[in-house]
Amino acid sequence: MILAIETSCDDTCAAVVDGAEILANTISSQDEAHARFGGIVPEVASRHHLELTAPVVECALEEAGVTLDQVEAVAVTAGPGLIGALLVGLSTAKAIAAPRKLPLIPVDHLQGHVAANFLAPEPLEPPFLCLLASGGHTLLAGVRDHSGHEVLGQTLDDAAGEAFDKVARLLGLGFPGGPALQKLAEEGDPEAFGLPVAMARDPGLDFSFSGLKTAMVYLCRDLGEDGVRERRADLAASFQMAAIGQLTAKLKRALKRGDWGAVALGGGVAANGPLREAVAALCEERGLRLKLVPLRLCTDNAAMIASAARFAPALPYPEYLPYDAFPSSRLPVPAP
Ligand code: KG4
Ligand code: ZN
Repeated sequence: MILAIETSCDDTCAAVVDGAEILANTISSQDEAHARFGGIVPEVASRHHLELTAPVVECALEEAGVTLDQVEAVAVTAGPGLIGALLVGLSTAKAIAAPRKLPLIPVDHLQGHVAANFLAPEPLEPPFLCLLASGGHTLLAGVRDHSGHEVLGQTLDDAAGEAFDKVARLLGLGFPGGPALQKLAEEGDPEAFGLPVAMARDPGLDFSFSGLKTAMVYLCRDLGEDGVRERRADLAASFQMAAIGQLTAKLKRALKRGDWGAVALGGGVAANGPLREAVAALCEERGLRLKLVPLRLCTDNAAMIASAARFAPALPYPEYLPYDAFPSSRLPVPAP
């Protein structure tokens, strides 16, 4: 029985997981708190985590029908993420674990997204290829076992979700912009503006979204305020098609290079309907198994952290007391 805490970005999350079964997966979104700033403000996120972490943990325990006495280990996202936000979760996890002399399991956030696929029902067994696209990360992970992944390619600049959010802002949509942009794109013509698919001719597996974002900035400037208002749906649809085109082009290339029998999608952008459809079509065409976890497990949550913790080293009490959070990725998670 693992209690997990995730506070790496702007969602305060706690979960209780028993083996691969989720007993509770509580998420308190801070979207409203950041919306008026048009993006995530790290200091605002930390302050909200400070207020929300304890009640969110209590809520998860209550929903699971479990007391702290039944918890066998405490898992927590140790990085990568916003350092102030991570520290709140890590300190809370230590404060819960230490008085009970429970082990602490520090988890890498990206491995958490990968491990969302190991949860019931129908857990996906490695090996598989996982495309992770969120507001903070975009990468292709080669998953050969439960305990880690190999980064086959990643974004050289903006994350895919970040590009959705910035372009959504250009089009006057709220934050986070991904879902609103997808909705607007439904009414538009994806071929209205011939936006190039970035990195299409690049032989590697890395991504880049800043060129596409800049192309959108110039396009909007040339169209002028009235032009943008008139063509908003076409702009959204064209951007979305180019962004998805890049994600699927790199996925195809990675499939060609490795002998993968299954594909998984993770991160907030995996909630994008047309991306899910494009990847589903690709997998069907090639006879590959496709795992699409429910949307609640795609975006940040603590059940995925508990899932990764099942396969990560646990630090015994009191070894973890000096353990520090890390803002940048450093897989595998090291001992203190
Ligand atoms: O994984 P996540 O919840 O948090 C991070 O770790 O970043 O991902 C949030 C990101 C945001 O950038 C949001 O705009 C994007 O996922 N997103 C979407 C959609 N739903 C969420 N992007 C495109 N289409 C969507 N339907
Ligand atoms: Zn994430």
